Amino acid sequence: MAGEAVVRARGASHRSSQAHRGRRVAGNVTTIEDLQAEGPEFERLRQMIRASGTDCLKHFENGYTHEGGLSLQQNPDEFAALCRFLKLRGPYATYMEIGSASGGTALVLSREVGFDRAISIDDGRHLRAQEQGVNLAAIPGIRQFVGDSHSAAAGTFLEEVLQGAPIDLAFVDGDHSTEGVWQDIKLALRFCRPGTLLVLHDTRACEAVELAWLGLIRKGVVEPLAEFVGEHRPLGIGVGRVA
Ligand SMILES: C[S@@+](CC[C@H](N)C(=O)[O-])C[C@H]1O[C@@H](n2cnc3c(N)ncnc32)[C@H](O)[C@@H]1O
Repeated sequence: MAGEAVVRARGASHRSSQAHRGRRVAGNVTTIEDLQAEGPEFERLRQMIRASGTDCLKHFENGYTHEGGLSLQQNPDEFAALCRFLKLRGPYATYMEIGSASGGTALVLSREVGFDRAISIDDGRHLRAQEQGVNLAAIPGIRQFVGDSHSAAAGTFLEEVLQGAPIDLAFVDGDHSTEGVWQDIKLALRFCRPGTLLVLHDTRACEAVELAWLGLIRKGVVEPLAEFVGEHRPLGIGVGRVA
């Protein structure tokens, strides 16, 4: 089954964080509970996400109605909170994502948050990558780099597409190795401005990402604004404001 193979592949590169067990969220930041209490929009988003389909029911659980569809690799509570949080802080001219898999997450963000233009960097090696042909293609004006985010060509691509304009919202969910996640963060930061929102996915499911998130905060590279950590099968989403 494709979904289980994806889970095995993720498992190989994801080591759940042991180092920070007991840590709740990074300081005084917005949480899922805050967005849940803010109004009915959180619940609408959560139901929409569950009904949009997941990459693997067995792995992501949390009320998804089916496998497939947008094939999301998200905890619905965390992702609903992220969508609401970003919408409240918008608008954003330019969205850039490293690690698209099916392209479903970018499509939901495009519909629910909105941006003038979107950029995807993905190596096309995920088992769901062929679904980008439908999902990313539904995002108006999307520009895609299909290749290694760590290559010089990825940076050149961003220079050519952005033409000096900054990224307003960056979502990093590509290579989850220690070296790889830092390389992706550095690539994103090259094109960010003070105030850009930098989103890291898997701040709980992957130790390398969690350490990168905490390192960015400790070094003052970002000011932490939000951390969304679901109760069941948490993956963890950190949102920082580039200093
Ligand atoms: C965890 S998945 C992304 C999940 C997706 N953001 C979602 O929410 O459904 C990681 C993605 O990054 C891609 N990837 C991993 N290493 C990469 C690299 N060095 N360059 C480009 N893409 C990479 C994988 O092929 C996969 O599509």
